[in-house]
Amino acid sequence: MEKEGKPQGHAGIGHTRWATHGEPSDINSHPHSGKRVSIVHNGIIENYKQLKQFLIDNERDEFLSDTDTEIVAQLLDFYYDGNPIRCIRKVLHELRGSFALGIVFADHPETVYAVRCESPLIVGQGKGEVFLASDVPAIIKYTKDYYLLEYGEIAVLKNGSVNFCTLHGQMIEKELHTADFDEDSAEKGGYPHFMIKEINEQPTAVKTTITPRIENGMPNLSECGITPEALRSFKHIYIVACGTAMHAGMVGKYVIEKLARVHVTVDIASEFRYREPMLSEDDLVIIISQSGETADSKAVIGLAKELGAKTLAIVNVKGSSIARESDMVIYTHAGPEIAVASTKAYMVQLSVMYLLAFEMAYAKGKISEEECKRMTADLVAMPEKIEQTIKNSADICKYVSTKLIASESLLYIGRGLDYALSMEGSLKLKEISYIHSESYAAGELKHGTISLIHEGMPVIAVATQNSLLEKTVSNIKEVKARGAMTIVICDDQADIDRDAADYLIRVPKLSEMLMPMVATVPMQLLAYYTSVNKGNDVDKPRNLAKSVTVE
Ligand code: F6R
Repeated sequence: MEKEGKPQGHAGIGHTRWATHGEPSDINSHPHSGKRVSIVHNGIIENYKQLKQFLIDNERDEFLSDTDTEIVAQLLDFYYDGNPIRCIRKVLHELRGSFALGIVFADHPETVYAVRCESPLIVGQGKGEVFLASDVPAIIKYTKDYYLLEYGEIAVLKNGSVNFCTLHGQMIEKELHTADFDEDSAEKGGYPHFMIKEINEQPTAVKTTITPRIENGMPNLSECGITPEALRSFKHIYIVACGTAMHAGMVGKYVIEKLARVHVTVDIASEFRYREPMLSEDDLVIIISQSGETADSKAVIGLAKELGAKTLAIVNVKGSSIARESDMVIYTHAGPEIAVASTKAYMVQLSVMYLLAFEMAYAKGKISEEECKRMTADLVAMPEKIEQTIKNSADICKYVSTKLIASESLLYIGRGLDYALSMEGSLKLKEISYIHSESYAAGELKHGTISLIHEGMPVIAVATQNSLLEKTVSNIKEVKARGAMTIVICDDQADIDRDAADYLIRVPKLSEMLMPMVATVPMQLLAYYTSVNKGNDVDKPRNLAKSVTVE
């Protein structure tokens, strides 16, 4: 029945999703349906081709879309015998991949069935209404109370309430969680985009993340299950993550190795999990993840456990899979990050890397109590420095971004921590401005890449490491001499030849080690304003999803 063009009823499903199969188009949009079943789906069905063939062999050969989802809808339809739970169980046994489904059967129009296999799924409980979503920010406008589905659990949403059962139909009681943020944090709050709001939230996010972990001026992570004895015992640390989170790990490597003198290997989760890593019982595997649901990062936990290594998750989303499955967890307290491009989550990940490095270095006797307290005090002062940097660098970044918008490609260069940082700067710019960029260790340029430099090509040089400044400046001059337009990010006391830099972006001078926490800000702002100036969808860049729950 339709009224004013809208279907009437009390239950409904819909989904905005990243297209894993077929182009993003109306025909490939959810829900997808069989004759008696409609579904929405987050994730990926790996064996959909075989299942499609099975359907074709059984005279079910009418498909409207290019999606794997439609195959699931058709399969549910094929097996449906009037008993929804039995049908879901049957189909689930045939599906391979990571997914969560929302399902409506035509003969139960007031009921939504939902099932989780890997991909995250929550049910929000409001007053007389229930909501199904992948993540809490999607429902926070309506309720802060939610249930978290576990692997293989089914939720049955009807008449404003929800029941849970196993795949075998056995009823289960679930704990009701309450989100620790409200609608305001999930709204733009007067900012034009979530990304710029989240950049501005960084000082508070860092403060909220570090304050509870500092006692008498010393880092103390015992509340997260991390003891000095444990920190002394690890022979090798692996930091494994994806994208921006991996870049936070790169900074972590420099800092932990420098202070605690422990070998740290940083790896991309999708590579690490398939390269038969040499882990042992004396190793610590740190998994960094904002969402706590990234499929490749999550897979690393199981692998590490199998080989006897300890796992530590650094995660932003409470109760997420990575947090629950790891031996120890340090929650970052950035609040919900809505923009696809990560900013404040990266910043708090950095702050945790520092806390961990300080505590580990002290536990191993590599720094004195006095040194540890001094470094911790510098970290405590960071929120103010970050705030100052956001304020002071916004205008120059806005201006410099106008010089980048016409470029097709650019380079980020740096040495040491500046190189680790430039990786993140480059990713941020490319993902939201769609301008190709690469980060390069400045000293490596002349081994090939410098041949790319041509008249007017932008090169963003990060030069905040005083001990490496002269060398970095030589590299800047090398590219400048070959026609590059140079944008140099340095501290407010650095002595940079005026003719080496076309544009200088200055940030507060801090101890060399902590410079990433301020130097990352202009890189975020450059990416943001370039994207805005190009008229791009800043918060939702094309082809990307906030949480990558498929391999
Ligand atoms: C880039 C970005 C991604 C994520 C990556 C890992 O701005 O956000 O590169 O960092 O997809 O996601 P999480 O941290 O949720 O595991």
